[in-house]
Amino acid sequence: MARVAIVGGGGFAKEVIEVAEMLGHEVVGIFARENTLSSYSHLGYLEEMREKRASYDAVHIAIGAVNARGIENRRTILDFIRKHDIPALSLVSPLATLSGGVLVGEGVYVGHEALISCDTELGEHVVVNQRAVIGHDCVIEENVSLAPLVFLGGNVRVKRDTMIGVRSTVRQGVSIGRNCVIGMGSIIVKNIRDDSLTLQMPSKIYRNRS
Ligand SMILES: CC(C)(COP(=O)(O)OP(=O)(O)OC[C@H]1O[C@@H](n2cnc3c(N)ncnc32)[C@H](O)[C@@H]1OP(=O)(O)O)[C@@H](O)C(=O)NCCC(=O)NCCS
Repeated sequence: MARVAIVGGGGFAKEVIEVAEMLGHEVVGIFARENTLSSYSHLGYLEEMREKRASYDAVHIAIGAVNARGIENRRTILDFIRKHDIPALSLVSPLATLSGGVLVGEGVYVGHEALISCDTELGEHVVVNQRAVIGHDCVIEENVSLAPLVFLGGNVRVKRDTMIGVRSTVRQGVSIGRNCVIGMGSIIVKNIRDDSLTLQMPSKIYRNRS
């Protein structure tokens, strides 16, 4: 079991800590600009992460990607820990289901009840949030974040630094480019180019009922 330091001090970090502790790891504290989790010590931020290297075995990036800025922040930290040779721990919930042949890279997070089918590859620092479903033979590149309830059909490829919002659905065989924001509820049926933002029709107020 490892002494893990969590990078990020918000709500998503709370979920990540729950998984780390279920797996028997010791959470030694939080590296973040701000820490909202008062029961864990705030150890500082990036400089302190280097200075306090002896106090932990590995880190886990627990910054949620709810928009483009979240994914960019995750990328900045990922580049920092690589530059300074800081190891990252993968945290896969014991309540998730991974089929045979699934490859899990360093620093990956898989939340409760996620379902990942045969021979899918998760690159480094990928987030597969609670109840996301990933089909067989998918390739999810580094620093991709899948929000809760995302569905990817088989043979989907998602390139690096892309986020896919809650409950989005991606047809089998489709490729999504790098650095994309796929808005929640999107239904993706064709390949998506790098740097795209997709939005489905939002619900609108139809009438006032009073
Ligand atoms: C796509 C997204 C990143 C856009 O966020 P944003 O840049 O802050 O955009 P805004 O909220 O300012 O909205 C801009 C416009 O897009 C529309 N819009 C935003 N998200 C949308 C969505 N998912 N589907 C359809 N329309 C959407 C807004 O209604 C607004 O329209 P308007 O200009 O006509 O008023 C965000 O809405 C989203 O879907 N995030 C993912 C959330 C998520 O999965 N969270 C995970 C929690 S664990």
